Amino acid sequence: MNQPSAVSLRHEMRQLRRNLTGDAQTQAARLLRQHFLNEHRLLKANMVGAYFPADGEINPIPLLNRLQQLGKQIYLPKLATYPKKMVFLPFTGEFSVNQYGILEPIAAARDLRFAADLDLLLMPLVAFDGRGNRLGMGGGYYDRALAKFHRCGVLRRPKLVGLAHSFQQTPRLKSNRWDVPMHAVITEQALTWF
Ligand SMILES: Nc1ncnc2c1ncn2[C@@H]1O[C@H](COP(=O)(O)OP(=O)(O)OP(=O)(O)O)[C@@H](O)[C@H]1O
Ligand SMILES: [Mg+2]
Repeated sequence: MNQPSAVSLRHEMRQLRRNLTGDAQTQAARLLRQHFLNEHRLLKANMVGAYFPADGEINPIPLLNRLQQLGKQIYLPKLATYPKKMVFLPFTGEFSVNQYGILEPIAAARDLRFAADLDLLLMPLVAFDGRGNRLGMGGGYYDRALAKFHRCGVLRRPKLVGLAHSFQQTPRLKSNRWDVPMHAVITEQALTWF
């Protein structure tokens, strides 16, 4: 069977995600939080980047609230469009809505961090496969933000962990030369290291 194109795969997965009920999302977020909290390797991280959920993405907020209680510093993406760039700001109480309709923190410039400053980056995704390949929304924001470590094999780099609903797994994703693979994925069903 031919592989579906990235375009049709994105369309299909995003539709399935958006069709989940509120109850299913709440339950998935709870299970996701528990899989994370059971993993000692992840609990060592202090600076944690994550995302505000949109478009039916699995919701990391209950987990992030717990991590804040544990004293972790939580950061969320802030996007710039021309040129495309993603940086991180602290997860605080104040938000604005970006050009994609996604909430972004409002914070002082001195609090801005780069992906390289994080110990762990929890990444949204549209589809993933059993080898840690990741298909995003198609903006290339994550791939750009992570390109430096990927190419240079820099020693200190964040652990890259995708968060997804289990149905977002697909048999085999075509990986492009700029795609940065993940170290692990957590779904409502399980945590998997690659
Ligand atoms: N390091 C990079 N430098 C310049 N352009 C890049 C880089 N990485 C990706 N791109 C560009 O971004 C576009 C989208 O890439 P891709 O389809 O892999 O996005 P994605 O992984 O789905 O999105 P995201 O990274 O935001 O989750 C591609 O056309 C690619 O040329
Ligand atoms: Mg990519």
